[in-house]
Amino acid sequence: MKKKEKFPEMGCVADELLEKLPSIKHDDAGWEDGKIFGFVYHPGNDHARISEAYFRAFMYDSTLNPSTFPSLRNFEKNIISMATELMHGNSSVAGNVTTGGTESIFLALKVARDLAREKEGKRDGNSESEGNGKREGTCFEVILPETIHPAFLKACDHLSLQAIMVPVREDKRADPKAMEEVITKQTIMMCCSAPCFPFGVVDPVTPIAKIAKKHKLLCHVDACMGGFMLPFLEDIGYSIPMFDFRVPGVTSISMDAHKYGYAPKGTSIILYRNRAMRKKQFFVHTDWSGGIFASTTFMGTKSGGPVAGCWAIMNHLGKSGYRKLAGEVMKTTRSLIMGIQSLDSLKVISDPDMSVLAFTSTKGDIYNIGDALESKGWHLDRLQFPEALHLTVTQLNIGKEDAFLKDLTEIVGNKEILDKDQKAMNISVKMAKGFTKVLPGPVVEKVSKILGRVMGGKSGGKQAALYGISASFSNRKDVKKLVVNLLDGMY
Ligand SMILES: Cc1ncc(COP(=O)(O)O)c(C=O)c1O
Repeated sequence: MKKKEKFPEMGCVADELLEKLPSIKHDDAGWEDGKIFGFVYHPGNDHARISEAYFRAFMYDSTLNPSTFPSLRNFEKNIISMATELMHGNSSVAGNVTTGGTESIFLALKVARDLAREKEGKRDGNSESEGNGKREGTCFEVILPETIHPAFLKACDHLSLQAIMVPVREDKRADPKAMEEVITKQTIMMCCSAPCFPFGVVDPVTPIAKIAKKHKLLCHVDACMGGFMLPFLEDIGYSIPMFDFRVPGVTSISMDAHKYGYAPKGTSIILYRNRAMRKKQFFVHTDWSGGIFASTTFMGTKSGGPVAGCWAIMNHLGKSGYRKLAGEVMKTTRSLIMGIQSLDSLKVISDPDMSVLAFTSTKGDIYNIGDALESKGWHLDRLQFPEALHLTVTQLNIGKEDAFLKDLTEIVGNKEILDKDQKAMNISVKMAKGFTKVLPGPVVEKVSKILGRVMGGKSGGKQAALYGISASFSNRKDVKKLVVNLLDGMY
């Protein structure tokens, strides 16, 4: 595709545009071959055609006004009641379908903030303290284990909440005691994951929720990853730590249908212990010349396609379909874990509770291994702290475990591949290090340009260079600037 395309004066005929489609997609990750770990959660063509048909039928319809398209409202109500059942909620539980995990998390934090404002009888932030015990000039605090998804930090940023990050235990699970120790009069909520994205482990929800209850705080469980996986694993006999509404003190749960729910992108669910909480989520403006405006979630207008596709896939797969998929994905995951552990230079971090895992290397640079895997067509995420590769195993990867392990074994046993990549990377790392030692600030701009060149070409290539360079900055603000510049350059 041309870099800067002009808005055409005359439209392009349909056939011509349709012909272009494959070449436009040419450089995108080709997930159909099952070599991508994460990003795409596809139920398989036989199942996907049902959600596609429903998606298409409703894609131009809008969910904004609940009475204009009653079928969309019914889809949403049914999805919420199915999700509530999955999370063992009772009839008081209420929720909505959102566009993704980020929105669900944002809404849970907004509800927490607005309930706290109501309780305190004042707005947070810099308002005067009127004998309510709050420190002046500070804002409400949310306690987060350091492995929690950045969507929480983004939400805190947007909502003017203070994120209090707490280190996790050695086993990478949240540390309830350490979380309790940072509770202050400003604290409004404690959060945890089921499971966390980096290491796939479920946090100890029961003690965290107990602490939250004791201190009269809300407790949010982020089950964006596990919401459509853990209940089915429990059904088929896996030992899963309790994380849902069965746990006293859990007040809200986020769960993504567009991950292991295998629904189209743009579908997540936010559930609250009761309707009073959900009411705090709604936005109503009564005085607009355009009429009384009301919306349930963050978005205004949104397509009916995702919610319809989500309802269709949930009904089509049913619990038995999800159980079958979960079992097969888990079998693949276990084979991958065993294969990775059998290579003596590699180590799976902690003990993942489901199909999300990370591994490190004691020999060579793990990011080089990632780049070498990438050159063989495998797409994996990179972690930092510790440096590791990350796998989200989905339906697409079933049956691919042997091919992956064969390639991985070959790579970790081939010094030549590693050394070659390392040499290329070391040059850029040295340059970045040299720059940052002399002039850390302005030089970031220069490094961004270098990085732009190193990363050029196919998407995702040479990520070792990106992480090598970013690790060389002693000041994390420089890394932030570097990434902002990179993003700016990409669009
Ligand atoms: C545990 C967890 N929570 C939240 C999110 C954010 O979800 P989304 O990307 O749908 O906004 C993710 C995304 O990967 C996640 O893994």
